[in-house]
Amino acid sequence: MSIFAGLDNITKKDCLLSDYTWYRLGGKADWLVSPTTIEQLQTVLKRCHENNLPVHILGNGSNLLISDEGVRGVVIRPCGDGFNQYRFDGMNLAAGGAADLQRVLQDAVKRGLGGLEALAGIPGTIGGAVKMNAGGRFGDIGTCVQSVLAMDLHGNVFEKIKPELVFDYRHVNITARVILEARMELSEGDPEELLKTVKEVWIYKKNTQPLDMRNAGCVFKNPRGMSAGALIDRAGLKGEKIGGALVSSKHANFITTEKGCTSADVKALIEKIRNVVRDQYDVDLELEIEVW
Ligand code: EPU
Repeated sequence: MSIFAGLDNITKKDCLLSDYTWYRLGGKADWLVSPTTIEQLQTVLKRCHENNLPVHILGNGSNLLISDEGVRGVVIRPCGDGFNQYRFDGMNLAAGGAADLQRVLQDAVKRGLGGLEALAGIPGTIGGAVKMNAGGRFGDIGTCVQSVLAMDLHGNVFEKIKPELVFDYRHVNITARVILEARMELSEGDPEELLKTVKEVWIYKKNTQPLDMRNAGCVFKNPRGMSAGALIDRAGLKGEKIGGALVSSKHANFITTEKGCTSADVKALIEKIRNVVRDQYDVDLELEIEVW
């Protein structure tokens, strides 16, 4: 019997992952499985466990670089009604892990509920945004999140609530791998004022980041008290190129890709940037993007 027998309609074998990431790079996964209900997800995790298969959880692929060699094991992409719904109740919002962050944000603003405006223009799912405490100079998602429902690789569900739930710079203290739902407390605001803020954040992004080119957002985390982009820029690396990978001239913490680019090109450029910044400033840059 095949490993995912009975789950054929949600399983793809030898599936090219490049279609599922913003970089549009990378090789195949042994399996891509897209459960649409909690029960299905638990069944998939059980089969992975029984067969000793490594598991990767995929959201929107907007902060992810997949190697040219692909990924061994199973990539699980929760999607559909069981994971992407969200509901408002007064000032409270409960959003599924696969809900689209920008859709939720826009809906909140329309209803005059504030707190998420700082995240305008950040692509991703609620789950991905929680997992890495997505944000920028205007704020991060952790500020509004009160509790998170998550599932571990054995299918157990946990709830973590503030103050035990702690958000840090691009980090949250959740080890369970799948974010099922985030509950947030928003604040009352005027829809027009909120929309104005969203537009300002968006314009800042548009003016400072290469949004018109294929990229995965900031490549490195900002070292404490410093800007990775400013360091890379001062090191003279803007415009630096390896194969089809290029350090953006608009924002040096972005690597954009051209036709024919491979993941190996991006990885080589990442190493080059790290080495130059280490040599010149004695700073070790840590990756913000995830590499599989
Ligand atoms: N700077 C340069 N040269 C550059 C880029 C930036 O000198 O090439 C300078 C800027 O002039 C500014 C400072 O560095 O004085 C900081 O730059 P910016 O305001 O663009 O913010 P950042 O710290 O580089 C952070 C987030 C972004 C987020 C922006 C805006 C990180 C690593 N990056 O960037 O998030 O969009 O603030 O809110 O935390 C991401 O997470 O993928 C991402 C892009």
